Amino acid sequence: MKNFLVIGNPIQHSLSPKLHTFWINQNNIDAHYEKKQIEENEISKVIQEIKDEKLSGINITVPYKKSVIPFLEQLSETAKITQSVNTVYKKDNRIVGDNTDVAGFIKSLEDINVKGKSVLILGAGGVVSSIIHGCYLLGVKNIFVSNRTESKVDDLITFFSRVKKINWGEDVLCDLIINSTSVGLKKDDNLNIDLSTYKRTIFYDVIYSSRTNFLAQGESMGNKIIDGKKMFVYQAQEAFKIWHNISPTVNQEVMELLI
Ligand code: ATR
Repeated sequence: MKNFLVIGNPIQHSLSPKLHTFWINQNNIDAHYEKKQIEENEISKVIQEIKDEKLSGINITVPYKKSVIPFLEQLSETAKITQSVNTVYKKDNRIVGDNTDVAGFIKSLEDINVKGKSVLILGAGGVVSSIIHGCYLLGVKNIFVSNRTESKVDDLITFFSRVKKINWGEDVLCDLIINSTSVGLKKDDNLNIDLSTYKRTIFYDVIYSSRTNFLAQGESMGNKIIDGKKMFVYQAQEAFKIWHNISPTVNQEVMELLI
């Protein structure tokens, strides 16, 4: 039996075990997938378990996608560019870190053409480098980033020189606005910025666990909305492919596992 884990802190709300277990069963794979909340000083112990083949792979979520990197022996190109790792496994006796969030983000926009368009990203936390790299790959023309703590946007610009900083709360003409902040994780959370000028703009929220006020506002203004479920499912699909060499099905039944 192969063992897999998702690690993070907090982790209790992660739907990765549910999703991976569904696909494991569907594909008759002899494997087990669990979640585990860890402290930062326990990362090396978990990686050692992959070295010892007690674990076949792990997913990493907030807040360890960057801090896991020093414990790895090889990074995929995407993980290098984004400095963010969400999938780890052992290959040719080396511990490899990959990033499937970028592929998940790109696939989540499969029905939308953002080539040559303008995107505003709200927030500058761990997931944003993956979104920006995804925007580069999709040929987005203007990538604006706005964060409450503006210095974090400056840090991002040192790696992604095409990013343009927008002051927090200031508006800008864009075709797609993405909430990548943690605001919305709690039901009553509000960004407290004026979004009323974003008409004919697609509202995208990275949060997948609930319907956010951000999306509710976008929808009430008549805009198309996309929640974080698609990105979440597609990053998991990519991780599953890496570990099991099978591309698991994504359909309505799978999406409903996340409700
Ligand atoms: P991660 O682990 O993903 O990096 P994080 O650093 O906590 O998580 O990032 C969360 C994001 O949500 C940040 O962009 C944060 O803004 P700050 O950099 O100013 O902290 C943003 N965020 C959290 N609470 C917020 C709030 N009440 N209003 C606006 N932005 C908020």
